Amino acid sequence: MTEYDVTLEWPDGRTETVAVDPRETVLEVALRQGIRLPYDCREGTCITCVGRVLAAGEDDTPDAEEAVDAADVFDYRRQPRALTERERADGYVLLCIAVPRDDCRVAVGPMVRAEVGDSPWS
Ligand code: FES
Repeated sequence: MTEYDVTLEWPDGRTETVAVDPRETVLEVALRQGIRLPYDCREGTCITCVGRVLAAGEDDTPDAEEAVDAADVFDYRRQPRALTERERADGYVLLCIAVPRDDCRVAVGPMVRAEVGDSPWS
């Protein structure tokens, strides 16, 4: 089964790379490996686990001017109800229900959470 490398990046420069296959979500793999990520509902409704795609596939250099559409990189186990379509197009992704379709780099941490509004479901 194909695995994709998802590199999680914190604002302080720390990174962790997890190999995720289609049977698991990014959050599930990270937690199993002892990587601390924020989460709450694990159902795509509370927005606590949000990250932002920085780059995907061969494109290893993030371009601050150009957002990566999260739909190009991740499938969801269920509807990501906590995010608007615009937020998804701007690269925001709910890691609790997200399954990667490509190697990618994802910003995580409270700064990313602060960039998006509150979930209408929480
Ligand atoms: S943990 Fe609630 S949306 Fe992911």
